[in-house]
Amino acid sequence: MNIRTLATTPFLDQKPGTSGLRKSVKVFQQPRYLENFVQSIFDTLDGREGQTLVLGGDGRYYNREAIQTILKMAAANGFGRVLVGRSGILSTPAASCIIRHYRAFGGIILSASHNPGGREGDFGIKYNTSNGGPAPEKVTEAIYARSKVIDAYHILEAPNVDLERLGKLEIGNLTVEVIDPVESYAKLMESLFDFERIHQLLTSGQFRMCFDSMHAVTGPYAHAILEQRLGAPSGTVINGKPLEDFGGGHPDPNLVYAHDLVERLYGTSAPDFGAASDGDGDRNMILGRKFFVTPSDSLAVLTANAHLVPGYRQGLAGVARSMPTSSAADRVAAQAGIECYETPTGWKFFGNLLDAGKVTLCGEESFGTGSNHVREKDGLWAVLFWLNILAVRQESVEQIVHSHWQKYGRNFYSRHDYEGVDADRAKELMEHLRANAPELKGQQLRHYQVKYCDDFSYTDPVDHSTSQHQGIRIGFTDGSRIVFRLSGTGTQGATLRVYLESYEPDPTKHNLDTQQALSTLIVIAEEVAQIRKFTEREAPTVIT
Ligand code: G1P
Ligand code: ZN
Repeated sequence: MNIRTLATTPFLDQKPGTSGLRKSVKVFQQPRYLENFVQSIFDTLDGREGQTLVLGGDGRYYNREAIQTILKMAAANGFGRVLVGRSGILSTPAASCIIRHYRAFGGIILSASHNPGGREGDFGIKYNTSNGGPAPEKVTEAIYARSKVIDAYHILEAPNVDLERLGKLEIGNLTVEVIDPVESYAKLMESLFDFERIHQLLTSGQFRMCFDSMHAVTGPYAHAILEQRLGAPSGTVINGKPLEDFGGGHPDPNLVYAHDLVERLYGTSAPDFGAASDGDGDRNMILGRKFFVTPSDSLAVLTANAHLVPGYRQGLAGVARSMPTSSAADRVAAQAGIECYETPTGWKFFGNLLDAGKVTLCGEESFGTGSNHVREKDGLWAVLFWLNILAVRQESVEQIVHSHWQKYGRNFYSRHDYEGVDADRAKELMEHLRANAPELKGQQLRHYQVKYCDDFSYTDPVDHSTSQHQGIRIGFTDGSRIVFRLSGTGTQGATLRVYLESYEPDPTKHNLDTQQALSTLIVIAEEVAQIRKFTEREAPTVIT
């Protein structure tokens, strides 16, 4: 066995963002770039000797190459076993499931989520801990600190592993086990949802659905679960073959990028239900016939209907949402008498709440919903949850959401993104807002009165760690809000996100167009932040 220790010098830009280290493929392809980061992860993991690691990714360009390197480095760094998905494939929620199922020490997930892939696209890597969730900030900070001083990495000289053949093999002292990427995940889904009832719905001839995998990782999962196990006709899953460049598309399930699905759901003879998932399978978009469910509303509807689903019938401990997510779920929680937590953006902040049993469901406005079944958001899980509700209630998606609004009121919600703007100017915009924030309190802006204006900071109720500068919030006395923050996942320039929310209790006004309902808040956002001036853009790049 030939373990080599090779000298290296640090790269100074290996700071993990909202969800791991994301860079363009070109950056990752620089000699030693991947090796440095992987060694920095390993160096910060005390007690890794002999342990089990889970490894897989969303199948994007560079996935296979990176996996071969990581396997050889795991062998040289004393791990005992690596469980790797066949063809190098593991969706993010499946990786989380497998880490938990096998009680692994942790996992490495290769993905840049919804960012485009291919030679000219992005790549990413993140570490998940033994609870199956993204490493908390103290771990990612330690990895970053290590990456700045690293001077060597360890790698075994060995031939590449055949990732297509299921089963075990040895490289050096490491056992590599190539596993079916779908099996344990599918079993977990079966334990949570009423598969019998969903099967009846999907084979009744009265209900049609379409699931868009966007040529990304959920293809094999959706084929196996929706078509093979639940009996949906073949063809239900579209774009189901994972491609290294996602077919040239942008694997982000929203109304702009999931155009194949949107065309069907808004076309003639549209199916009853449509859904899509992103590059690594953790996001979801839910559509009814000619009807879009905002992710914030989706979380609220799942919370209100959880008692209809076997896995959640015993009741919810609580619910959590990221700060910019609308407060629709808060209203359900309040009526149900359960706690609703508000966390910073990013799934890692839900981990402690889930581990401590304080919440059962959680979600983000960015098309992420999940529960305590794993420690990641989970696209297909959300789709199955909706199917279970639809199978029990026998109403349309639109009817379910409308009756939800009748009961709780409607939180009109939209996010305006300004992508790829100059990073310095974007920072100036935020600094300008931060400086002016204290003065806004109590002011009348158009017909809204400012109740509070702050830079969101969060103290974790479990480990009491604090996270500051998580976004500028302007809250109004009627419950409406505007939030500004900069993206932590982009790879080019900066992305400004403006989140807008207004609450409407009156059912006669629930049919208003969202942008119309938010129009005054949109004007106020421009007035207080001078978005056009700082971004040099006339309009947002993407509106969701
Ligand atoms: C974005 C979303 C955030 C999500 C993250 C990872 O992060 O806004 O909710 O957790 O992607 O999917 P951002 O780019 O805003 O930092
Ligand atoms: Zn994702």
